[in-house]
Amino acid sequence: MQKSGLVLIGGGSGFIGTQLQKTLRKKNYDVIVVSRKPGNHRISWGDLSKSGLPKGTTAVVNLAGQNVLDPMRRWSPGFKQNVWASRVNTTKSLSKAILEAEKKPKVFVSQSGVGFYPPSETTVYTEASSGGSGNFIAELAKDWESAAQLPPESGVRNVIIRSGVVLGRQGGMIKQLYPVFYLGGGGPIGSGRQYFPWIHVQDCVNLFTHAIENDKVSGVINGVAPHIITNAEFSKCFGRAMWRPAFVPLPEFAVNTIFGPDRAIMMLEGQKVVPEKALEFGFEFKFPTIDKACEEMAPLLHRESD
Ligand SMILES: NC(=O)c1ccc[n+]([C@@H]2O[C@H](COP(=O)([O-])OP(=O)(O)OC[C@H]3O[C@@H](n4cnc5c(N)ncnc54)[C@H](OP(=O)(O)O)[C@@H]3O)[C@@H](O)[C@H]2O)c1
Repeated sequence: MQKSGLVLIGGGSGFIGTQLQKTLRKKNYDVIVVSRKPGNHRISWGDLSKSGLPKGTTAVVNLAGQNVLDPMRRWSPGFKQNVWASRVNTTKSLSKAILEAEKKPKVFVSQSGVGFYPPSETTVYTEASSGGSGNFIAELAKDWESAAQLPPESGVRNVIIRSGVVLGRQGGMIKQLYPVFYLGGGGPIGSGRQYFPWIHVQDCVNLFTHAIENDKVSGVINGVAPHIITNAEFSKCFGRAMWRPAFVPLPEFAVNTIFGPDRAIMMLEGQKVVPEKALEFGFEFKFPTIDKACEEMAPLLHRESD
């Protein structure tokens, strides 16, 4: 059977990348991951800069990035630099390889985050809203997105997905929260009133796949579910799905102490983000509401096979 194409994924070994690989392989794509570690169907960042894109690459995706919310890592200047470089420099390396390729891929889909928008309890953010300033995370998102912009004359379609918190039992925030909720220690973070932009990992992956496959999709897309909720609503729903109480709040001072103010902002404040473009182009969310997402995640968290 003829292959659908070859997708090169920077940082494709992580939580979102592993799920994206599965979905693409099911759709008969070949996948190569750019990784710091060797392995099958992998190349290194050094290989990429030396030899360019693998022959036959039809789409490029970037998901690389040092985990910002690693509680074991102190928010030192060195770690901040790592967080920045692992996103901006990897994106620049992929952009450069695309521009230098003799036969260019059709599309470059790059990840960004809703941290681009300034936290607010009132503003509604669409893709047309401005952002990219005011705190470290917003400025990082701006630099990350600029690194992904290719000149129009390259002929390569550019898509940037500004994701909310990606929820799935295989990784990310849910994997970290699961033991806490399981032991009955879950609850809202800070006041709990802050908005909690979110997307189920399968919808996130489907959005990337949609962006790869549809020539009409370009520019920034908010990668968030249409159901707008607060942090307290998320905790309540996840606790209910796990059959656990979710009354134990994580106080603001504790978040500030563990993570430092630059990172604490990501948990203590939020943005009301709507997926205007995804809905406009008819994207169908498999998990449009937080209840549906929590139902899928909670009881199956014990399963090892996924
Ligand atoms: N998960 C979320 O809720 C969420 C929300 C919004 C945006 N995002 C962004 O989406 C991207 C993927 O998220 P994810 O949850 O899949 O992350 P993840 O599981 O932490 O995986 C990211 C991958 O990036 C690579 N990486 C880590 N540190 C690196 C470094 N210092 N230099 C170069 N590469 C490095 C790793 O690949 P190797 O070890 O193979 O090199 C890792 O597998 C990240 O950039 C993240 O910031 C995630």
